Amino acid sequence: MQIDGASALVVGGASGLGEATARALHERGAVVTIADVNAEKGGTLSRELGVEFAACDVREEEQVQAAVDLAQRADGGLRIAVCCAGTGWAQKVAGSKGAHPLLPFETIISINLIGTFNVLRLASAAMVGNDALEDGERGVCVNTASIAAFDGQVGQIAYSASKGGVVGMTLPAARDLSQYGIRVNTIAPGLFDTPLLAALPEDARQKLGAGVPYPQRLGAPAEYALLACQIVENRMLNGETIRLDGALRMPPR
Ligand SMILES: NC(=O)c1ccc[n+]([C@@H]2O[C@H](COP(=O)([O-])OP(=O)(O)OC[C@H]3O[C@@H](n4cnc5c(N)ncnc54)[C@H](O)[C@@H]3O)[C@@H](O)[C@H]2O)c1
Repeated sequence: MQIDGASALVVGGASGLGEATARALHERGAVVTIADVNAEKGGTLSRELGVEFAACDVREEEQVQAAVDLAQRADGGLRIAVCCAGTGWAQKVAGSKGAHPLLPFETIISINLIGTFNVLRLASAAMVGNDALEDGERGVCVNTASIAAFDGQVGQIAYSASKGGVVGMTLPAARDLSQYGIRVNTIAPGLFDTPLLAALPEDARQKLGAGVPYPQRLGAPAEYALLACQIVENRMLNGETIRLDGALRMPPR
């Protein structure tokens, strides 16, 4: 999919990996719509870039539909949908204080997994109505998992389950949408230098980065954005989850 001139929706686009992706797509000439639950940050970024913003919680059907509709209004319809919205929770499955409560588990599943599904289903439904381009292509969706989908650490049971679900949706979604020329891929990032990790002290961040085989540092959000753009542009990439982690394999803790 050619980025220049295409309408792109970046959900979770107000911060971190999503913000970098919104910037990268905008620089490459896409007509970007940012959607995020954080209206303050999303509004500030969209005004800076001169793009549309939709306040949207990925768990809410009407809010995601409204964001898709905003992006779909652009010439040629919505062609690129990237979902970066997500959050974390750290707690063990059970311990001396009892069992992991259900509520935080359900919340993480509903934001990270069901929210990603909500964006994927509504964005792809809009793409089905687009005119077919070269090779019959109508659109491309990029989801965000995590290497925690594969190497979940102590305390990551809810987060890992949610990201494992995102990985699991990738191939069947690509198969479901293949007849319409809509591709689906997932990026599984390792450790990236976003506001999520910025809360840690500098030496803790350095230590985390030093544990990466090569390059020995945290990933830059622009490197995630670069892969998202490469996925959009490379039509043969479909139904795949790509680890972006400098060969990092997380230990148990
Ligand atoms: N930073 C990392 O090292 C890393 C590693 C692996 C995976 N990830 C994943 O990448 C994605 C982006 O993370 P980030 O590091 O950029 O974090 P971030 O906190 O900087 O950005 C996440 C964005 O998602 C938005 N968001 C959260 N809940 C939402 C909801 N219910 N509806 C809509 N928007 C919502 C937030 O407002 C924020 O703008 C997340 O899914 C995260 O799990 C990050």
